[in-house]
Formats: sequence, structure tokens, C-alpha cells
Amino acid sequence: LRKREIGVWRYLEYMPVKDPKKIVTLHEGGTPLYKCDNLAKELGLKELYVKNEGANPTGSFKDRGMTVGVTRANELGVKVVGCASTGNTSASLAAYSARSGKKCIVLLPEGKVALGKLAQAMFYGAKVIQIKGNFDDALEMVRELAEKKLLYLLNSVNPFRLEGQKTIGFEICDQLNWEVPDRVILPVGNAGNISAIWKGFKEFRETGIIDELPKMTGIQAEGAKPIVDAVKKGAKEIIPEEHPETIATAIRIGNPVNAPKALDAIYSSGGTAESVTDEEIIHAQKLLARTEGIFVEPASASSIAGLIKLLDMGVIDRDERIVCITTGHGLKDPDAAIRASEKPIEIECDIKVLEKLLMEL
Ligand code: F0G
Repeated sequence: LRKREIGVWRYLEYMPVKDPKKIVTLHEGGTPLYKCDNLAKELGLKELYVKNEGANPTGSFKDRGMTVGVTRANELGVKVVGCASTGNTSASLAAYSARSGKKCIVLLPEGKVALGKLAQAMFYGAKVIQIKGNFDDALEMVRELAEKKLLYLLNSVNPFRLEGQKTIGFEICDQLNWEVPDRVILPVGNAGNISAIWKGFKEFRETGIIDELPKMTGIQAEGAKPIVDAVKKGAKEIIPEEHPETIATAIRIGNPVNAPKALDAIYSSGGTAESVTDEEIIHAQKLLARTEGIFVEPASASSIAGLIKLLDMGVIDRDERIVCITTGHGLKDPDAAIRASEKPIEIECDIKVLEKLLMEL
């Protein structure tokens, strides 16, 4: 593995790809694992890392899934691909279908997709359809199109997506010199990513690369937390949330399709799930930017918000070696960032005024 550049295709032997010539890639993966000493100090933690998936080609972890999923579509000779999305999946699929010359249909919940993501999907040339409903409604509709063979579905119900995303687990081990963190914390929406990463760690253990497994810890927003509710009850099934709501639009999902796999990951790793409020998410988003220089979208910041809450609750031990996954870039949702910030100072074009102002800042 050492000779290959870090990224999804470094782990080709772990990928269900028959013909490497069919690979569609934008050089996804190989994202930085930042050691966050400032934030660790602030939170009284021994060792904290942030795996920043915003550094992917379209700014989210979805690219890891799409490189494998669209490669599979290529192998199958598919001409039309599609997905439902809260934004990032559509941005990513639009890019990979552009690169492989496929027609791309995306279904979005009207008015609930962050600006950057919408701009990406449109600009890469996808046919963008906004529905008067939420993500769960959109997914149901696009699954029906897939069943009728009108398009090849690239939501995380497609197992090839998860095969790509499992490389987040591989890379964490790789970047920690083949050691395993005690805990991995990440946001959960449709619950594909937590399932995929767990699969990655398990495959590395089964093939003798690592000995231990991390505790998988999923974070949801207060207004969209069916997995958290199930975990608190020790239940094996979720009760869907009919009207999911949160500032973290990426994870505004009430009926996660991968819930059974996610619950298995949480229970069998000895992990947990917790919910955070929109206020806690914004606080964490600012804290990460201001202590470490890492700007992530609100959904991503929920992993940090969840860490803070679980520390306060005494669920997480301060000696644990923790990796938080930040799933999408801050520029995906400029509106949320501006709303959460103070207005810029405005002055006349006068150096004296500026100098006086500087003394006050
Ligand atoms: N973080 C971000 C930034 C996301 O975009 C998503 C999901 C998640 C976390 C949750 O991941 O669904 O695998 O549990 N976004 C999907 C989309 C739903 O359409 O872009 P998950």
C-alpha cells in the first residue's frame, strides 16, 4: 500500500472493482487528519484529531462513495444516474457524472439545500429537480425511478457508495501509523457513512492490518434524531421522524435508510449516539474555526458539538484518543456562516479613521 498516493484508490485490493480502466476519479480521499492541540486543550482532552473531509474535490466525503459508485455505473454501461440529496450527494454525483459523460438527475428538497451545494449541482450540469417535500420524500421517489430502471441510483442504499466511504476508516489507521483511535465521532443523517467507516475498520482487522476497533459514535441534530432515540432505548429499529428540522440541512433526515447497519455499528463497537441543538452546532462550528483554522459546514460541526456534550455528560473519558470526522466544507453553506457571524465593520476610506479604529480592536 505504501507506494501508492494516499486516497481511495490506494486501497484498490479492498475495492469491488473488476476493471481498473473504468475508474472515474477526481483524486478523492487522502484528506488531512489534523492533530488539534488547541481544541484538545480547550476541552481538557489528551489527544484529539479532526479528519477533514471538506478537503475532497467537491468539498465533502461523498466523493469517496461516488468514485466507486460511478465506476460501477461505468462497468455496467449505465447512461443515466440519479440521487435524492440534502445537497452534498447531488454536488458530488453531478461532478462524477460530468467526468464520465453521464446524464445526472438530482432530486432536492425545495428551499432546504445550502447555497454552495445547489450552485455545484447546477454548475456541473446535473438536471436539478426541486420537490415540495423533504429528503425522505425525495429518496422514496428516486428509488421508484430506479426500480423502473429509469436511472442508476447513487444514494447510499447503493453498496458501492459505502465501499468507497469505508476508506475513511482505512485512512485514519494509515495516518495514525496503523494505530486505531479509541473513538470515532461523526454526524449521522441517512446513516451510510457511519456504517461504511465501521465496515472499513472491520475489514482492516479481518485482514490483520489492525488489532483493535474504535467505538463508533453518531451525532444527530435535536430535530432529526431517530437513531439517537433508538440507541437510548437499546432498540434495533428506528421510529421515523415525520418532520425533521435543523440548521444542519445536510442531516435534516427523518427516516435514515441505513439505520439497521448504523445501529449494528454503534452497538457492536460499544459506541453511542447523541443529539445536539442548533445552538450547540453553531457554537462548535465557530470554536473549531477559531481554535484550529478549520471551517466546516454545520452538519460537520455536530461531531464537535457531540464530543463536547458527551464529555460534559461523562460518557467520553478525557484520556481517550478521539477522531472527529468533519464531513463537509464550511463554504458549502455561506448563509449559515454569515448568519452566525458579526457584521464586518464599515468605515470611510480614511487612513486616520482606520488607525484610530485599530487601537480600539
Ligand atoms: N455530513 C454531511 C456534510 C452530509 O452531507 C451528510 C449527508 C452527512 C453528514 C450524513 O451522512 O447520510 O451517510 O449519515 N448528506 C446526504 C446528502 C444525505 O444528500 O448529501 P450519512
